[in-house]
Amino acid sequence: MLDFSGRKVLVVGGSSGIGNGVAQAFRAAGAEVSIWGTRPTASDYDGVEGSDLTGLAYTQVDVADRAAIDRATADITELDVLVLCQGTVRYKRQEFEREGWDDVMDVNINSVMDVARALKPALQARGGSMIIVSSVAGFGATIGTPAYSASKHAAVGLTKTLGAAWASDGIRVNGLAPGLVETKLTHVTTKNEKRLAGALRGIPQGRMGTPQDMAGVVMFLASPLASYVTGQTIIADGGLTLQ
Ligand SMILES: NC(=O)c1ccc[n+]([C@@H]2O[C@H](COP(=O)([O-])OP(=O)(O)OC[C@H]3O[C@@H](n4cnc5c(N)ncnc54)[C@H](OP(=O)(O)O)[C@@H]3O)[C@@H](O)[C@H]2O)c1
Repeated sequence: MLDFSGRKVLVVGGSSGIGNGVAQAFRAAGAEVSIWGTRPTASDYDGVEGSDLTGLAYTQVDVADRAAIDRATADITELDVLVLCQGTVRYKRQEFEREGWDDVMDVNINSVMDVARALKPALQARGGSMIIVSSVAGFGATIGTPAYSASKHAAVGLTKTLGAAWASDGIRVNGLAPGLVETKLTHVTTKNEKRLAGALRGIPQGRMGTPQDMAGVVMFLASPLASYVTGQTIIADGGLTLQ
């Protein structure tokens, strides 16, 4: 196990799914972990599948609201690890319309840069590391969700550019591109028997990923084991994109 004792970690989108798994893994490794989510209070996640806020410091921040990001980051002066795991998608062709497009771009990419920009001084103060969670959708087409795909391609690109731009400031920037992980974002596939069977056939490892699988990659990237790695996005998809 990696040891993050005494480290300050913030997971944006840490209230559920992959981000929650990442947050709990850092907590188990000794870190002081803060998370952001959309609900008013931590207790609003009680009993919610995929959400365990035990031992995590929760703040409600709608990342589509730039003023809310400014308020939430104003007092953060030191940070060792920033994980940007917020994400959303709109199905039923909504992303082909301007409103759906804007909603997804605001959360999936604009807010990534907004939070990164606001917390750069705090990361620099600790020689910290940032991990941007994109997707395998950042490497190919997703026919029904153009904003999701475009935002994730942008996240992969931003990871490279910030990795290069902030290296001389002592900040490493890397990315995780998950394949299929069962969370509320993917229920449209995972709760549909036929679709799930089809999806699993395309995964050489023959199973979905778990938030814990994803946490392992994020922790590696944030750890000294990855001290000479920056600007890279690691695909963790059980081999989905190999064929
Ligand atoms: N699951 C997969 O198969 C998969 C695959 C590839 C990439 N990803 C990426 O992994 C990341 C996490 O997704 P997930 O699958 O774990 O889904 P999830 O369980 O829905 O988690 C999404 C997180 O983002 C937060 N969020 C959404 N909109 C927000 C907003 N406007 N302001 C603040 N927070 C907001 C959610 O808060 P609430 O908890 O309050 O809703 C939640 O914490 C996303 O970037 C997603 O694109 C997931």
